[in-house]
Amino acid sequence: MQRYSLTAIILHWAIAALIAFQISVGWALEGLGARGFSLYQLHKSVGIMILALTLVRVAVRYWKPRPAKLEGGWQGALASGVHLGLYAFMIAGPLTGWALVSTAKVKVPTLIFGAIPLPHLPLPASVHGLAKGSHGLIAWIGIALVALHVAGALRHHFLMRDGLIWRMVPGRSTALLIGLPALILVGFLAGRAILPGAAPASVAAPAPVAPEPIAEPANVAEATPENVVANAIAEPVEEAAGPPPAWTVQPGGRIGFSVGNDGETISGSFGKWTAAIVMDPDHPDSADIKVTIDMASASVGDAYKDGMLPGDEFFSIAAHPTATFTAKGAERTGPNAYRARGLLSLKGISKAQSIRFTLTGEGPTRKVSGSATIARASFGVGNGDSSTGLAPQVALTFAFTAKAPQ
Ligand code: HEM
Ligand code: HEM
Repeated sequence: MQRYSLTAIILHWAIAALIAFQISVGWALEGLGARGFSLYQLHKSVGIMILALTLVRVAVRYWKPRPAKLEGGWQGALASGVHLGLYAFMIAGPLTGWALVSTAKVKVPTLIFGAIPLPHLPLPASVHGLAKGSHGLIAWIGIALVALHVAGALRHHFLMRDGLIWRMVPGRSTALLIGLPALILVGFLAGRAILPGAAPASVAAPAPVAPEPIAEPANVAEATPENVVANAIAEPVEEAAGPPPAWTVQPGGRIGFSVGNDGETISGSFGKWTAAIVMDPDHPDSADIKVTIDMASASVGDAYKDGMLPGDEFFSIAAHPTATFTAKGAERTGPNAYRARGLLSLKGISKAQSIRFTLTGEGPTRKVSGSATIARASFGVGNGDSSTGLAPQVALTFAFTAKAPQ
């Protein structure tokens, strides 16, 4: 009997297993808070991969035509309808996921498998609810279609005994007949196994490039209460019990950095930055942090060295005037100590980065101080001849006072 091309068969089972993984992880995402950061990234990465594989699969379908239909009548039409529905699911599932991420109030950047930035789709924020609702619903429709699809395959195999199932299994191998569908179960169980609660050693962290994070604020004007609050209000966090407070950074804060250079230490600071911080210290999962640093405001107190910082060897300020650190959710590491794992975008490169910080004081005024260690080379900072003696890690420290509305 004629069968599908090997490419179509491999894609069929690989996509089926990946979909099972997606559904398994997807259902757990919402409850994970900060611990879910890397799982969100993984879910988004695998989802976009499914979209890409599906497009290849559709192309293969035209390039290597499928075997002729075995059955006509309403059953044949139903089978074709279910196949069409499955393709629609395989495309609409990822697209609605992409749309919901693109329209969320908190724009969390997506790095596919930690490497390829995924742009946000140019969609109005008003479609967020629709995209989110459809994404969950489409998964259920997909499950229903797969159930019909499997029922059809079993009907052919056990009732009609027409060998149709071998069209999707290479070499009439009984081992593959069991093993390939079993991949779907493996995909689902793999999704369960890597959930932070179930297996803490696995994906709980976004594999930070450096041991510590970087918190970077920064930005253009001084950290004026207006823009900080405006940003904060614009990005509420849905999971918090009540709305977590938006903190206003008070003037006088500092973000400094230091790095070893041939036995000496070069220290400096950023003069201009802003931080939009929403966080309930008792529920750090609620944190939503965005720090923007005006890279042109960097100074190490030495006119000659300062003159080098804007250039391509260091910050490439003309192309990348700001650096940002964004984190959704933080975790408590001590009584007043926290860690936020997020994304640092510096010199056009975005990488996982975590920052540590402590909060001192009570009530609506807190002192915030913290640090991060940045692997500068992974952002292309210090990539030229004058940087040969520069240590690979840059220590970042920050301290400021923040006030919450009374
Ligand atoms: C998430 C799970 C699955 C998805 C998304 C899926 C999707 C699809 C699609 C879109 C086709 C149509 C191929 C084409 O003609 O272009 C197809 C064909 C087929 N699938 Fe699946 N499938 C899944 C799971 C399964 C399972 C579990 C089985 C077997 C138990 C199975 C057996 C088959 C067979 C035998 C065909 C060929 C039908 C024919 O020759 O007319 N599939 N599948
Ligand atoms: C075939 C591919 C995909 C499948 C089967 C899938 C499935 C799911 C499922 C079942 C959920 C849980 C929905 C709920 O609880 O209501 C979910 C959530 C989510 N998915 Fe996907 N997904 C896919 C692709 C994507 C892609 C490509 C993205 C983004 C680029 C994405 C982003 C998300 C996000 C952000 C959530 C959490 C939504 C929320 O906060 O309610 N998904 N996904």
